[in-house]
Amino acid sequence: MFKGRDVLAITDFTREELERLFRAVDEIVEGKVLASRVLEGCIMATAFFEPSTRTRLSFQTAMLRLGGGYIDLAEVTRTSIAKGENLADTIRMLDSYADIIVIRHRIEGAAKFAAEIAEAPVINAGDGTRHHPTQAMIDLYAIRRFQGRIDGLVVGVLGDLKYGRAASSFIYGVTLFNISKLFLISPPSLRVRDEVKEYLRARSVNYEETEDLKEVLHELDVLYVTRIQKERFPDPMEYEKVKGSYIVTRSLLQEAKDKLVILHPLPRVDEISLDVDETPHAKYFEQAKLGIPVRMALLKLVLRGD
Ligand code: NCD
Repeated sequence: MFKGRDVLAITDFTREELERLFRAVDEIVEGKVLASRVLEGCIMATAFFEPSTRTRLSFQTAMLRLGGGYIDLAEVTRTSIAKGENLADTIRMLDSYADIIVIRHRIEGAAKFAAEIAEAPVINAGDGTRHHPTQAMIDLYAIRRFQGRIDGLVVGVLGDLKYGRAASSFIYGVTLFNISKLFLISPPSLRVRDEVKEYLRARSVNYEETEDLKEVLHELDVLYVTRIQKERFPDPMEYEKVKGSYIVTRSLLQEAKDKLVILHPLPRVDEISLDVDETPHAKYFEQAKLGIPVRMALLKLVLRGD
């Protein structure tokens, strides 16, 4: 099911496969299997051509906790890419050194390109504005853990739905389950891309686009917040126009259901005010912590198959 497989997009996975993954995560979380030697002798290469804190460090931590090791491609200025080496040759080398490659790149399709070159499985840790499948796995697992289920929930996704890869992967991911309604909440200029809408329509997902969080907040069981992807705006003036246009504040949450769970892939900029952190709704730091067991389970399944 997972052995030797590339992890390029959440849309490549079925619900059954994700449930298999979630059971493996449960074993780690509930059994408190914080360390084992099951991947002893395995080496993971991490190649991040874009900034990252959580994704890179949690993949590396996950591998270390399973008894494996990792090699990390340094800042581009300190690698042969600075001498003009192309991505294909760099990937070829990583492939000959490591058993699995985790890549993040600003170019859409970069992970797919790497997977075509490498024999080792390739995990997409984010390609431009498109996919971030392991983030979606964490997000879905977090909902299941904090709400007890995904089916039947009303889910809102707030923020930059145009450029945010975490947002689109999350949207694709929730459609694998029978959610009751999906609200896509964003400023008009940052609405979800047409290809995502087509995907939702093809799957007859009950979704609605809106600009106003306040109007729909009381209906939500899950609110997935994302930052505006400043670095992806072709025109900085366009960013200035939408900057700060939505903020989840503590007072706004008075309208929310008691059981509302707020998630965020992080990093947060200003879209959730700091005083929300102390409310029982704020689950984003716990969600980020789940990145370790989810990535442990995934590495184990891809490298060992069980
Ligand atoms: C996200 C990303 O890189 O797409 N970060 C992450 O991996 N948790 C979200 C973001 O940068 O906004």
